[in-house]
Amino acid sequence: MGNELIQLKSVEKYYQGSGKTLKVLENINLDIQQGEILAILGPSGCGKTTLLRQIAGFDHPHTGNILMDGQEIVKPEVKRMMIFQDFNQLFPWQTVMQNIVYPLQVHHVGDSVRANREIASKYLNLVELDGFEDSYPHQLSGGMKQKAAMARALALQPKVLLMDEPFGSLDALTRLSLQNLLLKVWRETGVTIVVVTHDIQEAILLSERIVVMGQRGSGGIKRIIPNSLARPRDVGTKGYAELYEQVYALLDV
Ligand SMILES: Nc1ncnc2c1ncn2[C@@H]1O[C@H](COP(=O)(O)OP(=O)(O)OP(=O)(O)O)[C@@H](O)[C@H]1O
Ligand SMILES: [Mg+2]
Repeated sequence: MGNELIQLKSVEKYYQGSGKTLKVLENINLDIQQGEILAILGPSGCGKTTLLRQIAGFDHPHTGNILMDGQEIVKPEVKRMMIFQDFNQLFPWQTVMQNIVYPLQVHHVGDSVRANREIASKYLNLVELDGFEDSYPHQLSGGMKQKAAMARALALQPKVLLMDEPFGSLDALTRLSLQNLLLKVWRETGVTIVVVTHDIQEAILLSERIVVMGQRGSGGIKRIIPNSLARPRDVGTKGYAELYEQVYALLDV
């Protein structure tokens, strides 16, 4: 398509354990398009987190290449920010504002503390967390902590957000509201998003394409399904039920 931000070419990753080799990723070929939301969906243990960690640069495949803007990914970088499922991603001894300003200082984003506070405020506003600048993480709900983690990542203006089941520990209503917030963030920033989930509905609501992975030990991608349902989407959107059925059948559960 000519608009690839990240390319995975023949990627293989295996783990050794109790005398056996588990091939987690086998011949993974995947292009991530600039500006898309790509959902990675699959059963527990199929290798979703492993795949995301290779893209982030936290870990490296045994064979194959992963490129971003044509350059090999060799280490974690600010242009690829990861967000986890765990609510405890923030420093507990810092306020929300300090949590967001600190990485901006480390990476010399603004030229003064004041400039960095202004950048932080802008992103706190984007994730609808203004008014909680001076709260400590323990004073926030799980959903609010995930919003703060999103603001912290976005403030660094990454090209891609890598999200590993970011809403997996939230109650259903909060999850829905955070999904809608993520879509707003996507529209307003244009950031590319790769979101791992094991929730078919979440994959359908968010994505432009759905990567369906096979069962644990099967080595990787079963199919990549385009998702062109009209937005905003809900279970009543035309084509939703058919897409759900198609994905469900592939998941083999
Ligand atoms: N460091 C490791 N050493 C050995 N085996 C590992 C390691 N990390 C992951 N595995 C194994 O690799 C497989 C894939 O793990 P991974 O965490 O990528 O799965 P996942 O799809 O993210 O699962 P979940 O949905 O439960 O988060 C699992 O079978 C796991 O046990
Ligand atoms: Mg995982």
